Amino acid sequence: MMTSRLRSWPEPIVRVQTLSESGIPRIPERYVKPPSERPSLIPNLAPRGRDRTRDSINIPVIDLADIMSSGDGSTLLLEHISYACREWGFFQVVNHGVSDELMGAAREAWREFFRLPVEAKQEYANDPSTYEGYGSRIGVEREATLDWSDYFFLYHSPGSVRNPSKWPAHPPSLRELILEYGKEVTELCKRLLSLISRSLGCEADFLERAFGGGEEFGACLRANFYPKCPQPDLALGLSAHSDPGFLTILLPDPHVAGLQVRQGDHWATVEPIPNAFIVNVGDQMQVVTNAIYRSVEHRVIVNSAKERISLAFFYNPKSDLLIQPAQELVTEDRPALYSPMTYEEYRTYIRTKGPRGKSQLQSLVRLATKKSTPELLRLNK
Ligand code: OGA
Ligand code: NI
Repeated sequence: MMTSRLRSWPEPIVRVQTLSESGIPRIPERYVKPPSERPSLIPNLAPRGRDRTRDSINIPVIDLADIMSSGDGSTLLLEHISYACREWGFFQVVNHGVSDELMGAAREAWREFFRLPVEAKQEYANDPSTYEGYGSRIGVEREATLDWSDYFFLYHSPGSVRNPSKWPAHPPSLRELILEYGKEVTELCKRLLSLISRSLGCEADFLERAFGGGEEFGACLRANFYPKCPQPDLALGLSAHSDPGFLTILLPDPHVAGLQVRQGDHWATVEPIPNAFIVNVGDQMQVVTNAIYRSVEHRVIVNSAKERISLAFFYNPKSDLLIQPAQELVTEDRPALYSPMTYEEYRTYIRTKGPRGKSQLQSLVRLATKKSTPELLRLNK
């Protein structure tokens, strides 16, 4: 908890945009990943239509057209959702109800913000006490290897923590767009939560209740900016991690792939479908569902030819609520796998250590079950 109150970074902040624009042919040592973490980029460069099967995947696609018109989900839809959350932890969603125009406008406004000179963005420089603002690292460990990205992080909900005066004033449309985009994506999150609840065989409001109910949720937005990188084979835009919260709705760059999802020992690159969102299960969903649904590790690769932008909307539990496996999903055969913890405490870990795969969730595994459930090792991978 103490580290979450740190007011400053352990080392001076360097903007990745500055490094990228300086034209250096080699990246500084701080950004070079150890060999085991480096991406192998060769197969990803295979042109479209050639054999990309080994590295390019399409994660399951969920089509919400029916529920958008009739309000109900068919059994088949619920089965698809269950499969995606169980086996992949990721899916793309189409006909989701958020307009293409709003998605495009929000993304392009953020692109415009990141293209401003670094000096124009410094007034929003963030610190590790809240992370709110313009940032270039996650985690406060001295001499940590850094990721090749800058970002802007903000709190969207609850309304009591929302402070648009801390959001970018340029481009002038951005604040309004953030509000509208957040509102629409929140609606989508609620629709998904109810479908995911039903896909577990539970009542439609099951997950909403588990996370505090009604308007008692937290939502944050992180706009990620991945500048061109002269040595993309040595660096990562975002190191392997799982998302700590409940559900993440990612708006990817339609022109540049970069998100990779772990499948066993392999990293597969997601191919974004136009106007789809990429949805992924967060650690808190894994805890509440007692690992029936899983958060899956993912990371971002960068490239030397194109910059990339993405908007990650994190839908999280209320920060002071104790999160634990739901009674409905705990049985004699499948005892509660995780100890209770508040989301605030949980988030502090990632904010201190930075992205570290799924080590945090592993640390919540109850001692008693650690010995008796070898299956857990697999679940937490
Ligand atoms: C994240 C994330 C993926 C991306 O912000 O947590 O995983 O494609 N982003 O930027
Ligand atoms: Ni993520």
